[in-house]
Amino acid sequence: MMSNERVLFVDHTGQIGGAELILLDVVTSRQNASAFLFETGPLSAALAARGLKLIISQHGSGLSRFRRDSSVLSALPLAGRLAAIVVEIARAAWEHDFVYANSQKAFVLAALANVLVRRPLIWHLHDIISSAHFGAAQRRMQVLLANMCAMRVIVPSEAAAAAFVDAGGRRGLVEVVPNGIDLKSERTLRSELRQRFGLPAGPLVGVFSRLAPWKGQHVLLEALARLPDVGCIIVGDALFGEQDYAARLRTMTAELGLVDRVHFLGHRNDVPSLMQAVDVMVHPSIDPEPFGRTLVEAMLSGVPVIATDAGAAPDILERGRAGTLIPSGDPRALAAAIASVLTTPEQVATQIDYAAQRARAEYSLGRMLDTIGAVITKVRLGAVA
Ligand code: UDP
Ligand code: GLC
Repeated sequence: MMSNERVLFVDHTGQIGGAELILLDVVTSRQNASAFLFETGPLSAALAARGLKLIISQHGSGLSRFRRDSSVLSALPLAGRLAAIVVEIARAAWEHDFVYANSQKAFVLAALANVLVRRPLIWHLHDIISSAHFGAAQRRMQVLLANMCAMRVIVPSEAAAAAFVDAGGRRGLVEVVPNGIDLKSERTLRSELRQRFGLPAGPLVGVFSRLAPWKGQHVLLEALARLPDVGCIIVGDALFGEQDYAARLRTMTAELGLVDRVHFLGHRNDVPSLMQAVDVMVHPSIDPEPFGRTLVEAMLSGVPVIATDAGAAPDILERGRAGTLIPSGDPRALAAAIASVLTTPEQVATQIDYAAQRARAEYSLGRMLDTIGAVITKVRLGAVA
């Protein structure tokens, strides 16, 4: 996807979540690209390391922790700052051929900037637009701006596409581009990894998502209370202001008598290796997952997956052929699924072989980059509806 268009990538956060990991892959193959961020953080450092010119807002610090379901009214005191960011984006857009917004907040402000400086605007929408994550006014504004200003809306799954259309977004704008993941870690023996990481022997499950109520780590804790012999690692931290939830998880662990069995490892940069140390990867989101990179990472790592049957998970896990699907927010069903995976190794071996093949075939990084490159070219050639 090497190309000379001058693209301005816009993101609201300086943190690196799944959406930003995708952004880091998308920018890698582009020359003449810049990134406009609302704040500095690990993301700005990673983008600079990839050779992007960085433009950091003078007014955006802390906005990424502003809740996205906040009312328009509570956003009013921020209106001045938001307007200033709009002007900053417009100024930056002036020197670029395209604007590529990688988050909801980035898109809304980039769309408003588009009124001042018109540039083709692409929205890479990594969220499921629904009442679980966005207030009614926000949803209306997002789709209205998308219908008016976006040349294309890229989403990672049919579930995210359907939610955008249900909220009033134009179907013709949508390009479904499944996330692509390139795992470089080698396969290592589970026992060796347990030793390396100081993890106990015996049945061990893991969850590898940032800590946030909708990611559902609490459901796993409740399931573990029913499985006295099973240990667990909780990998990830609260990246976007969910510290209360992180504290609640620790309190729950104590209240449920799980302190000896549950290990909180915080945010880690060695997830692919850590994943191979567990017997089962659990993805217990209680709201539909727009994609879920960790599902594919586990499939590529040869680790059995148990995930909530909602959002993109049933597609990625091919309706249960490449992993186990469970109802949302149901600790009893999760406990039963964990027990079943731990006690049926032959069945699981067939499933993980199939899952690894499927992940390599359907969710390769190369395919994602080629498809996004083609979307950008299509927009450049004006061959869009
Ligand atoms: N991740 C990580 N360190 C952690 C926890 C998670 O590097 O401690 C990575 C994980 O491997 C995955 C990404 O963060 O690649 C999370 O992406 P996903 O799509 O699963 O969820 P998101 O957080 O974007 O909603
Ligand atoms: C978002 C979604 C996650 C998706 C990621 C990359 O953070 O929550 O499901 O995998 O973006 O698209």
